Amino acid sequence: MSRPAADPASLAQARARDAADPLRGFRERFALPLDAHGAPLVYLCGHSLGLQPLGAKQLVLEELEAWAQRAVEGHEHGGRPWVPYHQNLAAGLSELTGADPSEVVAMNSLTVNLHLMMASFYRPQGKRTRVLIEAGAFSSDRHAVASQIAWHGLDPEVALIELAPAAGADLIEPAALDTAIARHADELALVLWPGVQFRTGQSFDLARIARAAHAAGAIAGFDLAHSVGNTPLALHEAAADFAVWCSYKYLNGGPGAIGGCFVHERHGRAQPRGAHRGGLPGARLAGWWGHEADTRFRMESEFRAAPGADAWAVSNPPILAAAPLVASLMIFAAAGMERLRAKSLALTGFMDELLRPLAPRVTVITPREGAARGCQLSLRIAGGVDAGRRVFEGLRAGGVVGDWRSPDIIRVAPVPLYNSFEDVARFAARLAQVLGEGV
Ligand SMILES: Cc1ncc(COP(=O)(O)O)c(C=O)c1O
Repeated sequence: MSRPAADPASLAQARARDAADPLRGFRERFALPLDAHGAPLVYLCGHSLGLQPLGAKQLVLEELEAWAQRAVEGHEHGGRPWVPYHQNLAAGLSELTGADPSEVVAMNSLTVNLHLMMASFYRPQGKRTRVLIEAGAFSSDRHAVASQIAWHGLDPEVALIELAPAAGADLIEPAALDTAIARHADELALVLWPGVQFRTGQSFDLARIARAAHAAGAIAGFDLAHSVGNTPLALHEAAADFAVWCSYKYLNGGPGAIGGCFVHERHGRAQPRGAHRGGLPGARLAGWWGHEADTRFRMESEFRAAPGADAWAVSNPPILAAAPLVASLMIFAAAGMERLRAKSLALTGFMDELLRPLAPRVTVITPREGAARGCQLSLRIAGGVDAGRRVFEGLRAGGVVGDWRSPDIIRVAPVPLYNSFEDVARFAARLAQVLGEGV
């Protein structure tokens, strides 16, 4: 099946908007997946796995070449020596997260980073033992939190608070979150909240959540898997205590790419050199890559913490899993998050507009206001699981790639770096066609 045909009026409008888009050239910097006939698919799955920046292959090959030619000396020599390799990522990541470069570190994967952050920032004491998360949180986050609670000898059934939307609603009202935090103020140790909720696409005001958590005497930590590279972030200003993310979604770092962490500078600063135990934030699970760089290779038994978030690094980073991210961050730097966000609002707004006539068979559950969403829209398909799956499969057969979240949600994300208005028009037309076919 070739590219889905779009309704002529929407297609003309889409093409005019593409022609006027100052970021349209960035699409050419990515490998667009193709169908069996060699035509590009309508790829709307950047919320799951971002596309490959064309520059990634070159950067990975450079490291393979450095390894082949220099072997161990690649740690110190070559275009991008491996010992300080993660520093190639700090500036780009700090730009995207609204942090100082010393507040971010690229390392591990998201859930591992969440555990490392909780080792420092979830320090239950006395009555203050509870963790607030959203009901229906990403499974890995819930597993991480529940296992941390249990690891401290506490009962997750008691210590975990899961805030659900009001009855019949899909979204959590920000005021309801404020209220929940205030209600549990004397027993909350940690509020762990998503920047963008993975299932609904709802985006949250992190500064407001951090303020509420701090007023309650709790730590504010964020999972930014669906936010980084998608929505503007200002973690330093928001006074977040910590944040974690992965890089294979909107950051286009490739499958299993190196993840990242933010630790607010007040925690880095408060960290006495050499101190490695005690109360928050002095405790952390350490490794040699968190040691100050100048003296790391003396291999002394005393741990001297590197300044800033680097102190939380444990192992030397996976260079081959970091190189594609270097390529991607170069593209972000060229495009600029402000311009990307402006295009994102227009692109997702256009999709929302084209989907409205499909109600009630398709309902967009993601908030309508731009400030409360990123680029993803989550669509509820009426008629139950089987009907929803058939619609999803009809989309895929028609060259559209989104994903399915049981029992009735299709997620689609027009990504401003590589999706076009034409992609959106073709997707909407295919969806209308699939529904018209009575699936
Ligand atoms: C919201 C969220 N949290 C956690 C994860 C798990 O990430 P990882 O496998 O990198 O630990 C994902 C992965 O998609 C995610 O979307």
